[in-house]
Amino acid sequence: MPLLPATDENIETAAAVLAAGGLVAFPTETVYGLGGDAFNPRSLAKIFEVKNRPRFDPLIIHIALPGALEEAADLSLLSGEVREKVRLLISRFWPGPLTLILPKNPKLPGLATSGLSTAAVRLPDHPAAQKLIRLSGTAVAAPSANPFGYLSPTRAEHVAGLLGDRIDLILDGGPCRVGLESTVLDMSGALPRLLRPGGVPLAEIEALIGPASAPAGPSAGAPPNPRSPGQLGSHYAPRTGLTVLSPAEMAVLPYDPAGAYLFFDPSSRDQWLAGPGRKAVPDGGKIGALLDAGTEKNREFRVRILSETGDLTQAAANLFDILHEMDDLGLSRIYAEQVREEGLGPAINDRLFRAAEKKQAP
Ligand code: TXA
Ligand code: MG
Repeated sequence: MPLLPATDENIETAAAVLAAGGLVAFPTETVYGLGGDAFNPRSLAKIFEVKNRPRFDPLIIHIALPGALEEAADLSLLSGEVREKVRLLISRFWPGPLTLILPKNPKLPGLATSGLSTAAVRLPDHPAAQKLIRLSGTAVAAPSANPFGYLSPTRAEHVAGLLGDRIDLILDGGPCRVGLESTVLDMSGALPRLLRPGGVPLAEIEALIGPASAPAGPSAGAPPNPRSPGQLGSHYAPRTGLTVLSPAEMAVLPYDPAGAYLFFDPSSRDQWLAGPGRKAVPDGGKIGALLDAGTEKNREFRVRILSETGDLTQAAANLFDILHEMDDLGLSRIYAEQVREEGLGPAINDRLFRAAEKKQAP
């Protein structure tokens, strides 16, 4: 598994791997994807196998130009009104972290959509991804490049650690700018439906095309009959058990010598650090603080914040990165603070609650 910087030359090599039916992990603005030729059933089968992903969980088809949309989708099956909304969404949010569920083009293999009559399509806002897709000469089916159910990778090293020995090539484009997966919006019915909150806030979508229905938040439990397996509770989960707490609960959380603590911003962290049994030591400018108590293990860097300035976009970009690091500490629990419900807040809280649900079930 070569891990190569995403230079023009390496992107060309990667495109040839895709065209020949191989798998390439590549950077997007959201998370790293595990790409294969969307029109090659053998490539698609390999994606499911490498991720250990159930075949009922359909893939997102990535394109490099809006004009390629109809290779994957059949817009003629939509009403004129819905088609107009799709047109508005594309001109406003593509390239970008919005995935649209649309009637499927019959030419797309059934494996790409898990037999559904709809296809998920997105145009990523990342020059390396766009160039890779363009040069491959096809559309690229790509789930997040992590084993099924685990945290999505936001760095090439995450992919190397998780799936490295099972894929042909990893293109390293540095850390992902958005850091959360795309928003998945179902436009195949009469009314828009949010299937997964993500990099484009729902409020921005609704401001453009009017109301969309949204599933109950994951804090209220996984919705029945999820139409998008991303709605299942057991997604995006670290190995370490995780507990989500409100800011008020977090502030009075007793010190757990085997715990890691993820706060939203410096003020909530400092409030907790001022409590009994904690002593902050300088953190060398990293977004976090060290605990200066107890055993050697306790001295590890395990008090972190999502954003130095209390900014939700920065928090989203740091979320998976920090969770990957915390998960590697081998502690017994991660305590994470809920963030406020605006902008990317709902998507951050969604991922936190899903990470929590898996481990709280026995
Ligand atoms: O940001 C992203 O979307 C990343 C990057 C790599 O593009 N990709 C990603 O893919 O998150 P994945 O496979 O991890 O998540 C795709 C989500 C899943 O929840 C899947 O169930 C849903 O999209 N999905 C795909 N096709 C669908 C369809 N036809 N109907 C409903 N949901 C669909
Ligand atoms: Mg995924």
